[in-house]
Amino acid sequence: MSWIRDNSSMTWPQRFCGHVLTYGPIPKHVAFIMDGNRRYAKKRNVDNSEGHSKGFDKLSETLQWCLHLGIKEVTVYAFSLENFKRTREEIEALFDLTREKFKKLLEEKDKLNEHGVCVKIIGNLSKLPDDLTKLMAESMLVTRHNTQAILNVAFGYTGHDELTNAMSQIANGVKENHLDYSDLSVDMIDKCLYTYPSPPPDLLIRTSGETRLSDFMIWQCSYSYIYFTPVLWPDFTLWDFLTAVFMYQRNAHLFDDYKTPNSMSAKADKFVNDLREKRLNRLYTVL
Ligand code: FPP
Ligand code: MG
Repeated sequence: MSWIRDNSSMTWPQRFCGHVLTYGPIPKHVAFIMDGNRRYAKKRNVDNSEGHSKGFDKLSETLQWCLHLGIKEVTVYAFSLENFKRTREEIEALFDLTREKFKKLLEEKDKLNEHGVCVKIIGNLSKLPDDLTKLMAESMLVTRHNTQAILNVAFGYTGHDELTNAMSQIANGVKENHLDYSDLSVDMIDKCLYTYPSPPPDLLIRTSGETRLSDFMIWQCSYSYIYFTPVLWPDFTLWDFLTAVFMYQRNAHLFDDYKTPNSMSAKADKFVNDLREKRLNRLYTVL
């Protein structure tokens, strides 16, 4: 299954409803907690790995819907650091699926570049197997100049780990005099997160009936509209997606006032730019 599909698989009523929604505010950034793969597998008496594989197929379908609606950025929770507590067998199956999909991504890089899709992995890559990190680094590098749409894959990620990493970067910056203590601000923390320079998600969708964040983008989602649905991720349909966007549109006016303050000194600006540069250079060293 490809990462990017063409629009021919959408029926005309689906396209029509999608078109109607484009008259309202379209979220710039949508995040997904793709939950319920194993319950889906259990219901069908198949292996968990089959549930995860169907979960990837649903991701690729969802990306097509997002592109169709003109959503610029999508972030998906693919592997939490908490998922390391699962059985060895399930972790290996998830890593194998991810290897297969990132190899496929590299094979179809021309298609991604044609659609202008930039792929980023957010998370603690040092916790992942080397060959997987390498495939991810390569995928980021070959798509990094694309600007039409951004896909952030949270892998080896938790919000706590991301915030701890940001605090540690800032503390080191102060210790080595690249930053002043007075540079510590909301804006500075924003800019040290794995997701920077992405805007916060406007809409977060979680499937499977669980009504919690599970340590996903806890800093960034403070003002997001959160849509919970009982549908298991592999069963998620375009109608479920359009309903979530419609609910966001009904509530979007409530969130208009929030703007991230911007108050950085020249020294702090340089620190942030250096940090980004270091992150990019690290990708080349992984290869
Ligand atoms: C949550 O369902 C899902 C995951 C932990 C894995 C999500 C991964 C994919 C959809 C594949 C994506 C792959 C790539 C390469 C981006 P669960 O296992 O918690 O199911 P449950 O809630 O029913 O137990
Ligand atoms: Mg789950």
